[in-house]
Amino acid sequence: MIFNKKSEIDPDNIPEHIAIIMDGNGRWAKKRGLSRSVGHREGSRTLRKIVEECYQLGVRYLTVYAFSTENWSRPKEEVDELMKLLLEYLRNAEKELAGKKVRIRVIGGKKHLPEEIIKEIKRVEENTENIEGLDFIIALNYGGRQELVEAVSKLVEDAKAGLISEIDEEAISKRLYTRDIPDPDLLIRTSGEMRISNFLIWQLSYSEFYFCDVLWPDFSPTHLRDAIISYQGRQRRFGGVKC
Ligand code: IPE
Ligand code: IPE
Ligand code: MG
Repeated sequence: MIFNKKSEIDPDNIPEHIAIIMDGNGRWAKKRGLSRSVGHREGSRTLRKIVEECYQLGVRYLTVYAFSTENWSRPKEEVDELMKLLLEYLRNAEKELAGKKVRIRVIGGKKHLPEEIIKEIKRVEENTENIEGLDFIIALNYGGRQELVEAVSKLVEDAKAGLISEIDEEAISKRLYTRDIPDPDLLIRTSGEMRISNFLIWQLSYSEFYFCDVLWPDFSPTHLRDAIISYQGRQRRFGGVKC
């Protein structure tokens, strides 16, 4: 059998924007007889490694799904643990990323978020806003439908104020949380689930999807590289024709 699957990354074709649905923390913990919280803690270690790897590879934007608008329906204990981990990450982010050109941004609604998290988001975003290197975007209390609801509400307000001449795709795009961020080139979801669970529903229109069975705490830089190699072997047509 002839294998011509590439095993090396082409450094000239690194996806500009990678989005990741980090899934499988709970199952990872269950398999080991541990609490889901332990799974989330391990998952946050994986995230640190993946941010580092994206930075080294020269990825320009990395967006990770950290907490969805639907995740509030989980047991309070689990939600509290996730908020604690996120707060910890935001508090230490600059120290951890010291010496690296990483800008941190958070997308999602502010409603229901604990005050201390809102405060940390503001602080870290302001502190890193002029850094150009990797934009590390955390989707926190994020829901794609909620994002569209907010965008349409703004659109209606602006229309009432006479600020809009035409409603086109750009009119919506520029009212999303991601207004100045290009659409993801590659979406990765771990844990074997093949759905987008309300993540970036507008922005993923032409992204390449990569699903893998690995549970998020076990996802390594090598798995990330495999996803990029798969992406590099795809032909993106955007509805057109390529010979
Ligand atoms: C992803 O892991 C983390 C969040 C949703 C915050 P899960 O907690 O969804 O793990 P599974 O899917 O139950 O294994
Ligand atoms: C999506 O994972 C949300 C995050 C990874 C933050 P979920 O585990 O919440 O998604 P479903 O419930 O399996 O669709
Ligand atoms: Mg899950």
